[in-house]
Amino acid sequence: MTSNWREIMSRGSRKIAVIGAGNVGATCAFVLANMKIADVVLLDIYEGFAKGKALDMSQNANVLNYNGTITGTSNYEDIAGADVVVVTSGFPRQPGMTREDLIGKNAEIVAQVGAGIRDHAPDSVVIVVTNPLDLMTYHMQKVTGFPANRVIGQAGVLDSARMAHFIALELNCAEEDVSPMVLGGHGDTMVPLPRYTTVGGIPITQLMSQDRIDAISARTAGGGGEIVKLLERGSAFYAPGSAAAVMAESVLNNRRRLLPASCLMTGQYGLDDVYIGVPCILGSNGVENIFELELTDDELNSLQTSGNFYKSQLVEILGYN
Ligand code: LAC
Repeated sequence: MTSNWREIMSRGSRKIAVIGAGNVGATCAFVLANMKIADVVLLDIYEGFAKGKALDMSQNANVLNYNGTITGTSNYEDIAGADVVVVTSGFPRQPGMTREDLIGKNAEIVAQVGAGIRDHAPDSVVIVVTNPLDLMTYHMQKVTGFPANRVIGQAGVLDSARMAHFIALELNCAEEDVSPMVLGGHGDTMVPLPRYTTVGGIPITQLMSQDRIDAISARTAGGGGEIVKLLERGSAFYAPGSAAAVMAESVLNNRRRLLPASCLMTGQYGLDDVYIGVPCILGSNGVENIFELELTDDELNSLQTSGNFYKSQLVEILGYN
């Protein structure tokens, strides 16, 4: 077994907490452990569920050669000092449901989790994965009272990864050469941006027909639903959990990756006081910078429609105004 001094020295001083030990949370914790960047705390209201999965992952350390600790708990005191907290708690979709159908149940859960984070990890950057994503991220920011740059929603990384996969299938090319961009809300109103999606630096608009692009965009927008239908029970978790881990890594290591993520709008794209997916830089302060892309009228219209849909839900269902 090789040990890396820097990893050992960093133990205890860097910590990522994952709230919710279900499929998404456990996948995220596992991917983070494998990244060898921090100790991982997995918290769930069901203590044994968190402890059991953490122990299973810990026993995998020898096999996969990771060194950080993975701790299961139901006690928020154990997230103290976390640099990043990933929130996956909540109910997943079942067949026939939209993400928005989860709003009542999951808003209650986010309120409880947010209070725990506010009280025990007040300096952390929070990455929300709970659906309906853009609404729950807004809710989390209000509950914690954290500055908006420290509360971010995971959706764009997942949605654009889905688009990338469909493009790689279409062109029969390497997944890693696809650089996708999907904006807007994490739901039916998401906005795939073919003009800003490239393969090896070439916009896909030059590599395939508009018909194929339209089909790929539609499959991307329905990407989560396609999996819900296949699974018959619950929703996707490998890609959602990994996407959250990638965002956490960019924050923890101040990598400053440019990724699409759900951020609080303060006038960008003509939207205000609503969380929506936009391109941003993720570093140690969370959202370091939001980019306003030049959009066609159609693209801007789609993004605003998406933002306005979520804004109406915030007001009508969650009672924000
Ligand atoms: C999905 C769920 C996690 O898109 O929102 O698969």
